[in-house]
Amino acid sequence: MNVKELLSLKNKVLLVTGGAGNYGKCIVEGLAEADGTVVIASRNLETGAEVAADFRRKGLDVHALQVDQGDHQSILQLKKKILQEFGKLDGFVNNAVSRPMGSYEAPIEHFAESMRVNATGMMDILREMAELLVQNKGGSIINIGSMMSIFGASFAAPYGASKGAVVQLTKSLAAAWAADNIQVNAVLPGWIDTDLTKGAREQVQGLHEKVLARTPAGRWGEPADFKGPVVFLASPASDYVHGTILTVDGGWMGR
Ligand SMILES: NC(=O)c1ccc[n+]([C@@H]2O[C@H](COP(=O)([O-])OP(=O)(O)OC[C@H]3O[C@@H](n4cnc5c(N)ncnc54)[C@H](OP(=O)(O)O)[C@@H]3O)[C@@H](O)[C@H]2O)c1
Repeated sequence: MNVKELLSLKNKVLLVTGGAGNYGKCIVEGLAEADGTVVIASRNLETGAEVAADFRRKGLDVHALQVDQGDHQSILQLKKKILQEFGKLDGFVNNAVSRPMGSYEAPIEHFAESMRVNATGMMDILREMAELLVQNKGGSIINIGSMMSIFGASFAAPYGASKGAVVQLTKSLAAAWAADNIQVNAVLPGWIDTDLTKGAREQVQGLHEKVLARTPAGRWGEPADFKGPVVFLASPASDYVHGTILTVDGGWMGR
């Protein structure tokens, strides 16, 4: 195969949870621009359907289904619908996140809720979607983590604990599922310019400049910086890449 064919997602069905969110939309756009059929899924079907319709107006093959990652029955329902409506699954971008918590001082119930959706729910949906990939004789899983998967910050303790699970699950499941021709890899975003970090910059004086000073690339990231890495990991170009933790951070985590 030449490299254009290796990077093509033609005839592939790819699921992106949280596909209507900040990063989700860019990831969906990249996968669809590489000719994939992309299914976005999250709790709010109306928003997902609007985002999918916007993409279809631009000529991209994007559809929406519903799932609550914290609800096993809802995950089973999604699995059934993917098979009914698309006949198979070739790739899964595990991107949804719940942020019910603030600092480490927040009520312990907030911590439990974060782990229920982001860690336990993630394992649940990964196992179910992996079954579809096995039926497909293989496929790709891309877990979206965070710099907080490996770095500590007082304002992100509960979030960081649940995102830490992304790294360990990626490595363990990559080893467990490689024999089924499933590649499991993770992408860890660094400081990216989104609504979320805009809020943080407004609250924390000097954050913008501190990030710039520590980032070798000399700029904040953009959600569009994920398109290429995710398309690569979803495509046959990365067939021998298993268990990789790919940082997309302008070099911030390497310092
Ligand atoms: N923003 C950043 O700066 C940043 C930095 C580092 C890492 N990340 C990571 O990047 C990924 C995307 O982040 P983002 O900022 O783009 O998030 P976002 O805009 O807040 O979107 C989160 C998405 O997850 C969905 N979601 C939440 N709870 C769900 C549940 N129980 N079941 C199914 N879907 C659910 C939401 O849709 P519904 O409300 O419709 O369910 C939404 O589409 C996350 O994994 C996050 O940890 C983000």
